[in-house]
Parts: sequence; structure tokens; C-alpha cells
Amino acid sequence: MVFVASIRRRFQEKVVFITGAAHGMGRAHALAFAREGAKLVICDACRQYETIPYPLATPAELADLSAEIESMGNPVIAAHTDVTDLAAMQALAARAQHELGPIDIVVANAGVYSFAPSWEMSEQQWDETVNIDLKGVWITCKVSIPQMLPRKSGKILCVSSTAGIKGMHSLSHYVAAKHGVLGLVKTLAIELAPYNINVNAICPTSVDTNMCKNQAIYDAFAAGPGPLATYEHMLELTNSINLFSDRDLLPPQAISEVVLWLASDEARHLTGSAIPVDAGYLTR
Ligand SMILES: NC(=O)c1ccc[n+]([C@@H]2O[C@H](COP(=O)([O-])OP(=O)(O)OC[C@H]3O[C@@H](n4cnc5c(N)ncnc54)[C@H](O)[C@@H]3O)[C@@H](O)[C@H]2O)c1
Repeated sequence: MVFVASIRRRFQEKVVFITGAAHGMGRAHALAFAREGAKLVICDACRQYETIPYPLATPAELADLSAEIESMGNPVIAAHTDVTDLAAMQALAARAQHELGPIDIVVANAGVYSFAPSWEMSEQQWDETVNIDLKGVWITCKVSIPQMLPRKSGKILCVSSTAGIKGMHSLSHYVAAKHGVLGLVKTLAIELAPYNINVNAICPTSVDTNMCKNQAIYDAFAAGPGPLATYEHMLELTNSINLFSDRDLLPPQAISEVVLWLASDEARHLTGSAIPVDAGYLTR
């Protein structure tokens, strides 16, 4: 019984900073860490971007998550903070250190995408996705690392994608940013090894969130065979015309399990790695 309790509270008193936490996978990660005893710093921009064709999080969703974590008995800071705003992110990291203690674990999760062939993509589409998905990850790491260095301890998890490993039609900005995240992770792993800080990336396949279930993606499929080819694994999995049945998208909790493992002591020998959680997508 004592053994079970210790397994379930792997992150007791750890300060965990998660970006893009108000819904989707970030929310699932926050609740999973909370169940294991963590103190949470959750942030989300809680706004809609002009080029992002599906609903992002609302302030009410962030408030709901914060209340749910509090009701579990865990301390939590919830902030409307944009990961591309360096000054705001620095202020949030400082507040976290002051109120909860130094950050132990970072999950740089906030991310967006839109669809267009590279030559039709607008500059605004490129900038919004690359800024949030790549610069935002760098900023998240930059503001957190100084709290880890003096203690020579820390875990950094950056959310990439299978799009960080292969090309995908109509997603060049996203693919470039997610490949960039892997470059950042490898470099940080080298820089932070002397400080005993593990830095790894996670590369999910299609997950059951707004990012994957929205009219824009259905329209991209309808527009021609290119985007559909990118997602053909879904057809193989479903073997039906219903591309988005429950069987083809991974539940967010499946990704949380790997995130928590990477943040745990059991994964202490991994650094600079890119871990696919892809149901075999990259192998087929
Ligand atoms: N859903 C998938 O199939 C899938 C697959 C591979 C990787 N990913 C990646 O996983 C991560 C989470 O995606 P998701 O599926 O949960 O998407 P989601 O849209 O459900 O959640 C993303 C969250 O990020 C927030 N966000 C957006 N811009 C922000 C900003 N500038 N600052 C702070 N927060 C911001 C949104 O409000 C939202 O709450 C992303 O990095 C995404 O690229 C998703």
C-alpha cells in the first residue's frame, strides 16, 4: 500500500510549469501532474489568432482548470500569458519562484497550426505558427533554466510532433517549427548536461484535441489528395470513411503518461531524445 502511494505521488512538491495548459493536451498534463502531488504553474494566451482556424482556449477554461487543481489540494498559479512575450514570461517565472519555489519541471506545450501549401501561405500564417511553436518554446526554456542551474537539477520537455520528424503537406511552417524544436532540444541537452538537467522532446501523432478535430482540417482533406496523404494513417486505422472516429486519434492522456515518465527519475538517463508517441505512424 505504501509502495502504491509513493508511485502515485511521484511529483509531490515539485513545481511544474506547463504552457498552453487551458485545454487539449496541456490540460491533461496539468491534471496528471496534479494527481501526483505537483504544484502547478499553468499559462495560456487564452486568445484567438487570426490565422488559426480552430478554437483556442478561453479564459473560462483556464479558470476552470485552476479551480479543478485547487480542489485537488494542489497549489496553482494560473496566468493569461503568451509564450511569445518574453517580459511576461519572465514575470511569470519570477512569480512562480516567489510563490511556489523554483521551477523543477517545464512542459513547453503551447502550439498552433493552420493549413496552406507553402507557396500560398501568408506571411502572417508563417509568423504566428513559427513564433508560437518555436520561439515560444525557446522563451519558455529561457525563463525557466536560471531557476534550475543553481540546484543542478531539472527536467525540460518540449512538445514537438511527428511533424518534427517528417514532412507534411500544407504544414511547412509547422513542420519547420517542430523540426526546429528538436534542434533546440539537442542543443539545450548539451548545454545543460553539466547541470544535471534533462532536456527531451515528445513527438505525438494525431491526438484527440481541437487541433485535430476541426472544420479546417476536414476542408483541407476535401481540397485534394495532398493533405489527405499526410493523414493516410488514419484511413489505415479506421478502414472507413469516418476519418475521425475515436479509434484513430490518441487520447491526450496517452501523451500525458509519456510526459510524466520523461519528467520522472526513471527517465534520468535520457537527454536530447525525441520520443515518438505515434502508434507506429513513423514506422509504417
Ligand atoms: N493534437 C495533435 O494531434 C498534436 C500532435 C502532435 C503535436 N501536437 C502539439 O501538442 C501541443 C498541444 O496541442 P493540442 O493538440 O493540445 O492543441 P490545443 O489547440 O488543444 O491546445 C493548445 C493550447 O495552446 C494555447 N496557446 C496557443 N497559443 C499560445 C500562446 N501564444 N501562448 C500560450 N498559449 C497558447 C491554446 O490556447 C491552447 O490552449 C502543441 O504544441 C501541438 O503542436 C499536437
